[in-house]
Amino acid sequence: MCGIVGYIGKQKTVDILLDGLKELEYRGYDSAGIALLNCEKISVYKALGKLSNLEEKIQHSNLCASYDLGIGHTRWATHGKPTELNAHPHLGEYSYVVHNGIIENYKELKEELLSHGHKFVSQTDTEVIVHLFEYYQNQFNDCTQAFQSTIKRLEGAYSILLISKACPHSIYFFKHGSPLIVARGNNENEVLFASSDAPLIGLCSEVVYLEDGFGGVASKEGIVFFNEALVSWSSLPTSKQFAQKEGFRFFMEKEIYEQSNVVSDTMLGRIFDNSIAFDELNASLMEGIREIKICACGTSYHAGLTASYLFERLAKVKCSVEIASEFRYKEPLLSNDTLFIVISQSGETADTLEALKMAKKNGLKSIVVCNVDNSSMTRVADYAILTRAGIEKGVASTKAFSTQVVVLWMLALYFAKYKKSIDTQTLQNEIHALREVPSALLVTNSVHERTKRLSKRYLHGHGFFFIGRDVFFPLALEGALKLKEISYLHAEGYPAGEMKHGPIALADPELFTIALMPQNLLYDKIKSNVEELSARDSTICAISPLSFELADDFIPTNLKNHYMLEFFEMLVVLQLFSMEISVRLGNDVDMPRNLAKSVTVE
Ligand code: AGP
Repeated sequence: MCGIVGYIGKQKTVDILLDGLKELEYRGYDSAGIALLNCEKISVYKALGKLSNLEEKIQHSNLCASYDLGIGHTRWATHGKPTELNAHPHLGEYSYVVHNGIIENYKELKEELLSHGHKFVSQTDTEVIVHLFEYYQNQFNDCTQAFQSTIKRLEGAYSILLISKACPHSIYFFKHGSPLIVARGNNENEVLFASSDAPLIGLCSEVVYLEDGFGGVASKEGIVFFNEALVSWSSLPTSKQFAQKEGFRFFMEKEIYEQSNVVSDTMLGRIFDNSIAFDELNASLMEGIREIKICACGTSYHAGLTASYLFERLAKVKCSVEIASEFRYKEPLLSNDTLFIVISQSGETADTLEALKMAKKNGLKSIVVCNVDNSSMTRVADYAILTRAGIEKGVASTKAFSTQVVVLWMLALYFAKYKKSIDTQTLQNEIHALREVPSALLVTNSVHERTKRLSKRYLHGHGFFFIGRDVFFPLALEGALKLKEISYLHAEGYPAGEMKHGPIALADPELFTIALMPQNLLYDKIKSNVEELSARDSTICAISPLSFELADDFIPTNLKNHYMLEFFEMLVVLQLFSMEISVRLGNDVDMPRNLAKSVTVE
């Protein structure tokens, strides 16, 4: 998730912009930049890495004191590696733009603009925006008309700030899909922009949280909205910490709620009506591949286990999954007809990184599914697919997991199409289901309230079993891990069909069983497993779209037409359930004891 700031007014523009970007650092970034406009002079500064690198560059420049306006950006790489050239703002001949989101049709726009003689210097999708604006400005000699014509051509998600020497007193803005806020400053003739509240706190009191399709132009004279009548002003939170959590109690809670949005970013530019595309790959990598081996740790391992069902079911490729710390020392038999996939939110987990290096040394092709560009694993693997979840601050991984599973589901379909292992109708059905994942991940008040109420009844027992079948077995493992990590209560994920092979001996009212009972996959099987437990007086909490009278507690989910949509909806329930139990136990939800966000040591 990138960060955006903008300023018009009499204060020192460069200070306002840099302070604003510092408030956005928590979102994670790999480069940053600002552009300043003073009458007809534009100055731009960009730097790789931390904001301090940008500040140093500015301090060593002969920056003139006052600039009328400026825009700034922290970049989280989606298209194009983290480099200074790819950092925002992006320049045309006489204009600059900063952008958050993904321009899905950037390739065709770039081709068109190249044919009109525009020169591109970066690998980003963003750069097409500023060249398109200047293409129209050169035609119309009217910045507003040029900006509106530009916006009409863009597809995807974009929040944009654009400045130009052609209209040196204005900042053009537009919001579609990615957040953008505009505000009148506390001082006279002052306007501010930001992609979230934190940079604005203390500088203004009223803001407009722009809706999709909202845009306009700001100057010292004020703000002109293209759709004035629909604009509504809101008051601003007063605490920055509150703002960084965007009103949620914990980063984990915020990240659970973010899942619905971030999986849309994960799919942007990759999902089409009859196909899946990964800019990062070429399907020929599957030439000669007879097996896929997945390797990861913790939650990422659970994503890998989930993917193994999808790779075999859809791509008809044999797939095995390894825990990295085991794989490294088991003297594995590896052959170069195996595609090695590592999964890691951080891209720095020592065991997974070493496993990847082992595979490389044995001549295997490798892919990393990762959330942090430019991390160690993205530099070692042959191919890197970014999950685009944005920075994940909660130690207990949530949105990283859901975006990993979405990427792996897309990858299974990508390989299935290449291998022609499924027919067109099946592919379309799967893609249709993928498009429903954001709504399956939506957190409803009723579900959150229900898990909150329910959590008080599950604080004191001698343990939990989370049970499921097929992909709901790795989901059960993930639910158990979430609970262990942040409540410190003992929990075990188990294949439902295995309970009768020993664990059912534990069944008693103090043993809480969380049963994942999807309607679209082996329902009758899981139902009979749960009946066996209920008959032995285990306390059952059933999560299902179908009512189950033997359950002591029941969390209803919505009827879905695909088991993976039930998977994601149940995932949210499990995440909220563990969080609310942790809250009741008074634990530190975001930084649970003994744990680190990234285990970079053995
Ligand atoms: C998940 O909630 C945990 N924080 C932990 O299991 C984590 O998934 C594991 O350490 C792997 O981390 P990675 O995804 O960054 O490699």
